[in-house]
Amino acid sequence: MSTPTGTPRKQIILGAYLGGVNHHTLWHLPESGSQIDFSTFEHTARTAERGRFDFFFLAEGLALRERDGQVFDQDIVGRPDTFTVLASLAAVTEHLGLAATINATFNEPYELARQIVSLDHLSGGRAAWNVVTSFDAFTGANFRRGGFLDRSQRYERAAETIEVVRSLWDSWAAEDLVIDKEAGVFSRSGAGSFAHAGPQFDVGGWFGVPRAPQGHPVILQAGVSPQGRDFAAANSDAIFSPYGRFDEARAYYQDVKARAAGFGRDPDHLKILPSASFVLGATEKEAQDKARWVREEQVTGRTAQILLEQIWNRDLSAYDPDGPLPDVEPALDAPSFIAGRALTHADRPATVARLRAQAEANGWSLRQTAVEEFTRGSFVGTPTRVADALDDFVQDDGSDGFVIGSYLVPTGLDEFVDDVVPLLQERGSLRTEYTGTTLRDNLGLPTPARAGDAAVARAV
Ligand SMILES: Cc1cc2nc3c(=O)[nH]c(=O)nc-3n(C[C@H](O)[C@H](O)[C@H](O)COP(=O)(O)O)c2cc1C
Repeated sequence: MSTPTGTPRKQIILGAYLGGVNHHTLWHLPESGSQIDFSTFEHTARTAERGRFDFFFLAEGLALRERDGQVFDQDIVGRPDTFTVLASLAAVTEHLGLAATINATFNEPYELARQIVSLDHLSGGRAAWNVVTSFDAFTGANFRRGGFLDRSQRYERAAETIEVVRSLWDSWAAEDLVIDKEAGVFSRSGAGSFAHAGPQFDVGGWFGVPRAPQGHPVILQAGVSPQGRDFAAANSDAIFSPYGRFDEARAYYQDVKARAAGFGRDPDHLKILPSASFVLGATEKEAQDKARWVREEQVTGRTAQILLEQIWNRDLSAYDPDGPLPDVEPALDAPSFIAGRALTHADRPATVARLRAQAEANGWSLRQTAVEEFTRGSFVGTPTRVADALDDFVQDDGSDGFVIGSYLVPTGLDEFVDDVVPLLQERGSLRTEYTGTTLRDNLGLPTPARAGDAAVARAV
């Protein structure tokens, strides 16, 4: 199917995000289920697969976040170990990609390469690694090395980590696993040998897992600084982005795709996927009313103060949530007031100025401002309206798809799959059946060439 201009319709990429942490999840609703039982993960994954989603996505937090010495009360249960969950899901799904957010700062490349390629084997080529770097020293308190690495050095380590991981994945060629029972030859000699010496790592030995079904499992990235954008543009197959408003999303899209071209890559081989949520209703009014209710439930007065503390970087508990925005300026040089929370507002004074202008123009209170700022990226309306909006966003190059979460765990995604997915399929923007056998195939991504194929002389 093609667009009115004759260009082929872009296929919408969909990931299913299971929150479990953050103010988005309304864990207190009577119909909310467990945030940690296997049945919760299984239900969401099976639903995503029923809707022909590309992948199931888990974020990661290696430390419970805290504010003023108290564990952040939006971190409902922490997060179970990602590989354990995804490996279990590999057994109950057939086509769905399994995307693991795993930190490059606090893990070693050998371990990372082994875990991800193992998931790729267990799932028959469905593993993805979302490379995050962690943005503050707080996470490091849980690890032997404490804070470990300055923020500016984290992408340097991440880049070298990927280099080593890829060389480990390339240490086996597909044909290295011989398994010739009659000749008594299991693998070619030399298979799995590797050596790397660089500023971050000096490692060498034998890698114990044969070549991945995908060659290289899919690489995702989440991070928005200029350094993060370059890292993503140079190294990743897809980006999990926070930009849900069309204008900022499109600007980001153009920026990182241009950076990818600058690294000599085909920009189409870097997929941009903002996080998004949805609220559906039988009529526009019903949907808007429900969305308003969801947002009010998500952002209580206390939550509003906490969310804005991320921008102001100071205690705002004395400010009335139903009153105006704080009249103090953000604390720029103070240590982080909320430890362990991703900061997406790099320029705090500019953000504060923007929020003040918006609050004044619209007559918003502190809480309403937080609602507007932190519950965005949401598609609201009848299923037809939401399908149209999602599709237009992608066809107009705001993104290549979305990573979709629901405020209701675990059954929230059902509504989307039952009511919106068929409309996207009717438009020809979403597959009705999986087309490939691996995640890479389904995403339309090429298999990276294996480094050193010609250079490594191997004898059987
Ligand atoms: C949309 C988005 C999602 C993120 N998810 C996670 C996560 O699940 N776990 C994590 O440790 N860091 C996460 N991060 C933090 C990033 O890994 C990164 O460390 C941080 O954004 C700092 O990099 P930057 O300055 O390039 O943005 C996320 C960041 C963004 C923008």
